[in-house]
Amino acid sequence: LGIYLDGLTGAKPELPLTYSDLEARAGEVMDPELLDYVAGGAGDEHTQRANVTAFHRWGIVPRMLAGAAERDLSIELFGRRYPTPLFMAPIGVIGVMHESQHGDLEVARAAAASGVPAVISTLVQDPMETVAAELGDTPGFYQLYTPNDRELAESFVRRAEAAGYAGIVVTLDTWSLGWRPRDLRHATFPQLRGLCLANYFSDPVFRSRLEKTPEEDLGAAAIAWAMTFGNPGLSWDDIEWLRGLTALPVLLKGICHPDDVRRARDGGIDGIYCSNHGGRQAASAPAIDFLPAVVEAAEGMPVLFDSGVRSGVDVVKALALGATAVGIGRPYGWGISLAGAAGAHHVLQCLLAEADLTMGLNGYRSIADLTPEVLVRTV
Ligand code: FNR
Repeated sequence: LGIYLDGLTGAKPELPLTYSDLEARAGEVMDPELLDYVAGGAGDEHTQRANVTAFHRWGIVPRMLAGAAERDLSIELFGRRYPTPLFMAPIGVIGVMHESQHGDLEVARAAAASGVPAVISTLVQDPMETVAAELGDTPGFYQLYTPNDRELAESFVRRAEAAGYAGIVVTLDTWSLGWRPRDLRHATFPQLRGLCLANYFSDPVFRSRLEKTPEEDLGAAAIAWAMTFGNPGLSWDDIEWLRGLTALPVLLKGICHPDDVRRARDGGIDGIYCSNHGGRQAASAPAIDFLPAVVEAAEGMPVLFDSGVRSGVDVVKALALGATAVGIGRPYGWGISLAGAAGAHHVLQCLLAEADLTMGLNGYRSIADLTPEVLVRTV
């Protein structure tokens, strides 16, 4: 209503309200190689498109006169109440997506302003401690890309604990970069130019492995990063080791199969993060298609979900299919590119407003009301 009232005086929203408009507007301000890095994905990009269209195969069943004028969209996660069911998924290059070159700090400020937690990537332009200092009262989660050097992995976890992160999200699907034709065509991606490697360059263990400091030889430090990042041998043994390292909640990102869920649960993991990395890593089925079986196998353990969420309606559908919290990737990334923290905040508010209205108009008052029966298969 506020937007329509403003419109009476001729004022129109400054930032786009839909995903396609956001992406198009970001395309006008971003460096083309970076734009391709963010917008693109694995192979023929069918998976990232399917992630989005899969949501359209579900419809919401409306209920009338259900007294849904007041809604409660809050959720509980690891013993803490959050005002919304959204979170910001880790985006490794977000530091350089904002003109300040400190997009990570803008993400943290958006989290502080909105109460929407952010999962902060290992690949940031500012060290994790500096990012954490901007999070205000909103918890942040630290996303770990497990390097092939355990001492370095442990150093990252210790730093995350000391910086006050509320949990460790271990990404499993990126032990090698996916086949990404857009980046291959440009023959570049940001980290090889030494970008978003602040966690490594500030790390005593990483620095101890170098002959010259990153300040003296950026190129050699970036190559050293590439050598430690790839971790084809990453295994359940590593997960067991990581689990034993910290008292923080540990979540596994990229889990889509019920057997993997059960193995994680048996190994003392605290949360599952069902995702196909926004179709950037390997071709797969749409991530949302995996969610019901993952939720069933999780037997009450929290299940975070991302990949393909583009609207508030998608948020409602993911919740109805059992997600505990719903992750947003590229949409808030475009918001950061366009207007920093205010841009991400705007994107989150639009998603929330639409989710809230969708629930209300369809007669659902709280997230507890969003069960699988709320959805009907339309195709
Ligand atoms: C990502 N993603 C990601 N995931 C992760 O665990 N660590 C990371 O550093 C990154 N980096 C990254 C960069 C960029 C440019 C994008 C777009 C994505 C994946 C991300 O967390 C999430 O899984 C997807 O973005 C979700 O899909 P949508 O919302 O983008 O469709």
